[in-house]
Amino acid sequence: MNIKVEPFENNIGASISCNLKLINQNIINEIKETLNNYGFVCFRNQNLEPGEYLKFAEQLGKIKEYPMLKDLENFKGITVVERKENDKGKSYGEGWHTDSSYLNKTPKYTCLMGKIVKKDQGQTLFASQLASYEALDKNIKEKIENLIGIFSSAGPISVTRLEREAERGTGKSKNFIAEHNIVKKVGNRKALYLSPGHTIAIKNLSEEESKNLLKYLFNHQTKKEFQASFFWEKNTIVIWDNHSVIHSATPFLGRRMMHRIILDA
Ligand SMILES: [Fe+2]
Repeated sequence: MNIKVEPFENNIGASISCNLKLINQNIINEIKETLNNYGFVCFRNQNLEPGEYLKFAEQLGKIKEYPMLKDLENFKGITVVERKENDKGKSYGEGWHTDSSYLNKTPKYTCLMGKIVKKDQGQTLFASQLASYEALDKNIKEKIENLIGIFSSAGPISVTRLEREAERGTGKSKNFIAEHNIVKKVGNRKALYLSPGHTIAIKNLSEEESKNLLKYLFNHQTKKEFQASFFWEKNTIVIWDNHSVIHSATPFLGRRMMHRIILDA
């Protein structure tokens, strides 16, 4: 291995030591392998300019357009994820979800880089959906094997975008609905693919049945034993696999600003 990998709690997530300005195909392959094994990875002290950050991300996957907000000027593919000093609502992305699950083709990876971060300005929590699927009992696994979820961009997490959309929105906030199997093949394993912030129903079940099943599965998939947390610092880059982990921002005070890139595999 060219990189040093240190797993976080519950073997979910890992810290990788390497300089992202000096990467090659072998290192990219090792980063992807670590993502397959741990669901998310973090890199501390990476002083990348936006152009260098895009160049790194392009080696991991195909940069995907984020439909809700306009890109950073002159850097197509970078979205500014920000909480401002006087914002009143929840933090951007606060609440369990997996990114853009309301699209027909959902992004495989998200990269997030801390640009303006002060001390104690929040964490991102992750929960492994490989582990959560594997811990379900056999009857539930059989029951959900072929079920299809309905995912909406107007789901409960959408309120955390309102302040940014008012400034830089594309006007497409509530336009997207997609259907996905709620059991997803990830490599040779299976994951629970549900996004509490977007999944509004299970197809072909009664309203009551759908509501009860989602309540049970949302509660299951966010249990402590499947979770790891990660604290933010300036110049930290985190990458996660949206098909095998869900995540949630935690509340914090003051201005914080990140650069985000989403990728197809
Ligand atoms: Fe997110």
